[in-house]
Amino acid sequence: MKLQNDLILRAAKGEDIERYPVWLMRQAGRILPEYRAVRESVNGFKELVENPALAAEVTIQPVDILDVDAAIIFSDILVIPEAMNIPYQMIEKRGPWFEHTIRSEEEAKRLEFDFDIEDRLGYVLEAIRLTVKQLNGRVPLIGFAGAPWTILCYMVEGHGSKTFSEAKKLLYTNPTLAHLLLQHVTDVTIAYLKAQVKAGASMIQVFDSWAGILGTEQYATFSLPYLSQIASAIEDVPVTLFSKGAITSIPALAKLDCNTIGLDWNMDIPVMRSLVGDSKTLQGNLDPCALYGSHQSIEAETIKMLDSFNNNKRHIVNLGHGVYPDVDPEKVKTFIKTVKSYETK
Ligand code: CP3
Repeated sequence: MKLQNDLILRAAKGEDIERYPVWLMRQAGRILPEYRAVRESVNGFKELVENPALAAEVTIQPVDILDVDAAIIFSDILVIPEAMNIPYQMIEKRGPWFEHTIRSEEEAKRLEFDFDIEDRLGYVLEAIRLTVKQLNGRVPLIGFAGAPWTILCYMVEGHGSKTFSEAKKLLYTNPTLAHLLLQHVTDVTIAYLKAQVKAGASMIQVFDSWAGILGTEQYATFSLPYLSQIASAIEDVPVTLFSKGAITSIPALAKLDCNTIGLDWNMDIPVMRSLVGDSKTLQGNLDPCALYGSHQSIEAETIKMLDSFNNNKRHIVNLGHGVYPDVDPEKVKTFIKTVKSYETK
């Protein structure tokens, strides 16, 4: 399908752009009253994720309401461990919870990794097909998955954590098992992302949300080799790698076969540009908390970020992490309008 707005794809590939493209991580979610209305009509988060028609509807909401330059499919990174036979529950106000954790060879026996993607994750692929049809070329659709390291964190820990010390413990006590699990997750993730592209996703983002809890050497051992396999396996669409908090691993990430590197708000744009060079696009990185400021301050902070791009066109504008659920959508609109009216030279 011919896209009417392909700015984000051109920015990712380093082609010319008229202005910077903008979208927000977690744009399809609780910030919008329209999302909350759909969410309340079903029995829990997972029912929404598993209903392709409703998932498509909430995926398109931010395109209609916020006027962003890309949609991101409404789903979750945790559908992968679930497809591998460790189901999760999303507990209200507490987050994800897994009944089974994988901390030993014995527990690893329950994992399944040789299955047909359409069989177990067909609901995500159907949501992608429906969304692409309903978007009718207005903006590209981003597909996504969690990085193997971040998925391992949940598989081992069984729930969210500030330290993920159980997951990190495995790296020190049984690195062989850790590598085996990471490879299985990688294989499933590659098949899943390829299926997303086939279903119509025009771009892929890999979220390594817990990258920052590993030291540089551990990150190089337990995350980068798997991200590298994923980035190289996705051939037809641009790939973004977002390793939150992995500031010291940016030079290593820049060597991988991806188009775009996601930056969090702690990462200084000119410094990152000097580390990455000009052959990659950078995505980010306004502090999500900046959207709690006044409209005037949001405009000023956004312009400060845009000025720091120093007229380099290889940028996609986003926050440094997902938008917080209690942010006023009008403030999000100010952020988006400021980006759209900023003139590039
Ligand atoms: O707009 C979008 O970004 C698309 C949808 C999306 C969701 N999760 C929906 C969601 C995406 C891209 C994700 C990715 C995701 N999920 C990540 C990586 C990105 C990041 O934030 O670092 C992670 C770590 C998860 C796991 C996850 N999902 C947690 C820890 C939680 C609970 C915390 C919370 O925010 O409530 C979720 C739930 C979740 N995923 C919600 C949404 C809209 C909120 C649940 C609800 O609506 O009830």
